[in-house]
Amino acid sequence: METGLIHLHSSLRWIVLILMVVAIVKGFSGRNKNVSFDGTRKIALFAMISLHIQLLIGLALYFMRGWAGKWGTEGMMADKIMRFFTMEHMLMMIIAIALATIGYSGAKKMSDSMKQHKRIFVFYLISLIIILASIPWPFRGLGVDNWI
Ligand code: HEM
Repeated sequence: METGLIHLHSSLRWIVLILMVVAIVKGFSGRNKNVSFDGTRKIALFAMISLHIQLLIGLALYFMRGWAGKWGTEGMMADKIMRFFTMEHMLMMIIAIALATIGYSGAKKMSDSMKQHKRIFVFYLISLIIILASIPWPFRGLGVDNWI
């Protein structure tokens, strides 16, 4: 069960990254043109759903794998891997997911399609930068050596 969830969480990162990039590109290209927001809204929605699935799987792993119980324990901050999974990864990803969610719900309420595109572009770009910086990529030496 745990292994399956880790695998799912790990491979879903690519779906998240692809959907985020497409939403950002669509937001960027529509920010100065009077084009319909509908296509961008759908991609941004799928990106947000994939982020929320990551959040649910991540939270399950956080408790199942015992990271939650390590919060505040002695040596947590000194151990790079423990600090990353107990605190950094979880907090930064929650901030990134919240940003994309706020960006999407704000854009939905707007009526000017250029402003809607711009909002998706800005919020999703910031969110993606945080996500990229918070993924335990194999080259970061965090005990994760697989790309999928
Ligand atoms: C866009 C959001 C996220 C992405 C792209 C992402 C990506 C990843 C990746 C690639 C791994 C390494 C998996 C492996 O060992 O192969 C991982 C591990 C982990 N993630 Fe996330 N994550 C996200 C959000 C979250 C959130 C919000 C939480 C917690 C609330 C979370 C909790 C965890 C935990 C606990 C592990 C370590 C599992 C273990 O014990 O090995 N993740 N994540």
